[in-house]
Amino acid sequence: MTLILAPPGAEPRTLDEPGDFAKLPDLPAGVFTAPLQRPVHVGADWLEPAQRDYSRADHAIWDDLYARQMDLLPGRAASAFLAGTQKLALGRGGVPEFARLSAELGALTGWSVVPVPMLIPDHVFFWHLANRRFPAGNFIRTRETFDYIEEPDVFHDVFGHVPMLADPVYADYMQEYGRAGWKAMRHNRLKALGSLYWYTVEFGLVMEREGLRAYGAGILSGPSEIRFALEARSPNRIHLNVDRVVRTDYVIDDLQPTYFVIESFTDLYRQTVERDFDTLYQGLGPGFTYANTAVIDVDNVIQRGTLEYHLRGGRGSGATPV
Ligand SMILES: [Fe+2]
Repeated sequence: MTLILAPPGAEPRTLDEPGDFAKLPDLPAGVFTAPLQRPVHVGADWLEPAQRDYSRADHAIWDDLYARQMDLLPGRAASAFLAGTQKLALGRGGVPEFARLSAELGALTGWSVVPVPMLIPDHVFFWHLANRRFPAGNFIRTRETFDYIEEPDVFHDVFGHVPMLADPVYADYMQEYGRAGWKAMRHNRLKALGSLYWYTVEFGLVMEREGLRAYGAGILSGPSEIRFALEARSPNRIHLNVDRVVRTDYVIDDLQPTYFVIESFTDLYRQTVERDFDTLYQGLGPGFTYANTAVIDVDNVIQRGTLEYHLRGGRGSGATPV
């Protein structure tokens, strides 16, 4: 780390701090990030020049997905998520127009939604989040991939993620996450920070007064995980502890063996913003310490799962997700 001179009384600054994030900072040399081929029609920011024109069939897919999820989610999704779907009127018909959505979301929390062609490089993703821009996939799934797709499409990204960005505290958490991404890259600990994203933004649960609710987009945008996450006896449910989560492996192609539960979004924000990630990363090895099925002695366990579903083989084995 290189220190540069600051005026007397001012905090010294480092050359590799990205500063105010106004410009896309260069990727530091030697940092490993997945190599993605940038399509020729997008610039360094990876943004599409405009949102795609969707066909009537595309809009109908959105409407059917929306109707299915909204049958499932009341009483299961976090109150902040359900409030967000109403505030942003995501069910007014068809794929939402990003410009309208951004204007409405901007008035609530200062966030916007911007179209990207596909998964984008980590440092570009962090930079957009640090500037309160949420990159959303431009394409929508087909009828053939209605229930499950690997690449995030506009339904996963907009329906799954954007309602939570209407919550002021969660909106701040996502911006801080983007800023934290730079620190993780400098320490080459992107996997550790990725685990925190996975167990909060994608598969997080929150304990509300009426009981457990889901706020993770990976749960809320699909048909099968919501009941498993909240009601099944298989998975572990453990109070979130940031140091524990960043050391925990995760599964990307099956239901989660373990869910981490927050008390509130203020609790999540406080736990992450107050933690000194420089110190945390220095104590971490390059791999994960704990399997995604593990329950360890420091865990504050809400419910220890039977792991029955995963022990029977998980997805593709015919095991029932109980
Ligand atoms: Fe996602």
